[in-house]
Amino acid sequence: MSTPPVDPTTTSAWTRLRAHHAELVPDLRGWFAEDPDRARRLTLDAADLHVDLSKNLVTDTTLSLLVQLAEEVRLPERLQAMFAGEHINVTEDRAVLHTALRRPPHADPPLVVDGQDVDADVQAVLEKVSAFADDVRSGTWTGVTGQRIRTVVNIGIGGSDLGPVMAYEALKAYKHPDVEVRFVSNIDPTDLAETVADLDAASTLFIVASKTFGTLETLTNARLARAWLWEQLSAAGALEDDDDARRAAVAKHFVAVSTALDKVADFGIDPENAFGFWDWVGGRYSVDSAIGTSLAVAIGPEGFREFLAGFHAVDEHVRTEPLATNVPVLLGLLNVWYVNFLDAHTHAVLPYSQYLHRFPAYLQQLTMESNGKSVRWDGSPVTTATGEVFWGEPGTNGQHAFYQLIHQGTRVIPADFIAFANPAHPLRDGDVDVHALFMANYFAQTKALAFGKTAEEVRAEGTAEDVVSARVFSGNRPTTSILAASLTPSVLGQLIALYEHITFVEGVVWGIDSFDQWGVELGKKLALEIAPALTGDSAALEAQDPSTRELIEHYLAQRTV
Ligand code: F6P
Repeated sequence: MSTPPVDPTTTSAWTRLRAHHAELVPDLRGWFAEDPDRARRLTLDAADLHVDLSKNLVTDTTLSLLVQLAEEVRLPERLQAMFAGEHINVTEDRAVLHTALRRPPHADPPLVVDGQDVDADVQAVLEKVSAFADDVRSGTWTGVTGQRIRTVVNIGIGGSDLGPVMAYEALKAYKHPDVEVRFVSNIDPTDLAETVADLDAASTLFIVASKTFGTLETLTNARLARAWLWEQLSAAGALEDDDDARRAAVAKHFVAVSTALDKVADFGIDPENAFGFWDWVGGRYSVDSAIGTSLAVAIGPEGFREFLAGFHAVDEHVRTEPLATNVPVLLGLLNVWYVNFLDAHTHAVLPYSQYLHRFPAYLQQLTMESNGKSVRWDGSPVTTATGEVFWGEPGTNGQHAFYQLIHQGTRVIPADFIAFANPAHPLRDGDVDVHALFMANYFAQTKALAFGKTAEEVRAEGTAEDVVSARVFSGNRPTTSILAASLTPSVLGQLIALYEHITFVEGVVWGIDSFDQWGVELGKKLALEIAPALTGDSAALEAQDPSTRELIEHYLAQRTV
């Protein structure tokens, strides 16, 4: 039985934070002027991540009260409980052990949870995934006609898609030159159709990735892919018209990743070609499990192990660093500060790296499926606002789209700026180092947001008085800058682990079980009930509410294909 959550609003830290907030006048210009050491004091390292917190709307008092809050809600005990494999996912009665996926081989003592040697299980699957990845990369694994595999298509959705696709895109510079990975997730048939349109079935391999192996989108797409494979091979004269031949084709062109290996076998995939994981890995925490098989193929087993080592480095930081210098803890507490005291409703994540273009989308599932809750882990209602909306786009594209609102809008939008000192492509425009130009934008944005531009400064530029107010920047817009040397597999693992732990810290303060996702169930169930109404079942149509029925009737009347 998990200990009940502490209502944060009943803590003495919360009362003091309220009083502190009432008197605090954010003044980043003044704070930096008074304390030239502020940037140095509020910059911390977690593994290879260099994190500057100094442009946040906090003083030393704010930070020490937030740390006190973490202690009062028993964050250290909760962290320890997670790492030890206690069943902190209460509503599903499960341990939460994604941190075990990245423990080093031969860790001493081994982690034994619920009587299971977790380390041994993790390493066994990792070895199987590695051997498979090597076989595909070397061309040892061939399709049914003997051709080597050129394209791997990962079929999954949610955590079984967002992590692998984000990481593949992020680490494209490390990918095997002759093996491409594509991703299909949406049950919109366009997704599968467009993804396979130009592929040669004989050199294509599908990875069906689904924790439950019961997800409608994934299983539908897997069946469509299987039908496409058979059709294409037959059309090329490479498939006999019998079940044995079809089974043999599936054996060479389909593998699976799942916790439900019985269902994998029912689909017709040889359990030998399936990679398992465990119910203690949440979907949105699973890119570092066998769900990352497509990534392991792309970057190779060594690269994948480096990726895992990156996660582990940040796990060790969060596990051992005192709260006051613990980067994920402080970032999680800052988010609480903004949501609960400064009324922030959203949080921007702005990677200055084109390779991280799917990172905000990935973080949306991680953070919002985890903390978008209204009840606490004991079933009682939450006592504060929870779960801010995470969003973002790579810089500099965002600068020319939505930054206006961050700079001059009426809302508080804390923003994380992520960048890397070294470009993967050190291109020059004549004499100009283009990455340096890109980075100048990175530094300029947080500076403008923090310090703004006063009316006097605008006037001093000779601006006509009637447009002075429109050109004033208030400043005091909070940002965190995260810098690393290069976007390597390890650094990507570190970034993901950083946000996993930030999410955890926020959840603990709010008393939330960050590891269930009951909120996605109702829509799934209703879709299954509605589906017959779209294909002629008049009773199912009649059973709908008037708005839904009218919409379905309109859809049916419009449908021509
Ligand atoms: O959207 C709900 C969800 O359960 C996610 O948490 C999960 O990542 C996704 O569906 C896919 O589930 P599965 O891997 O079981 O197909």
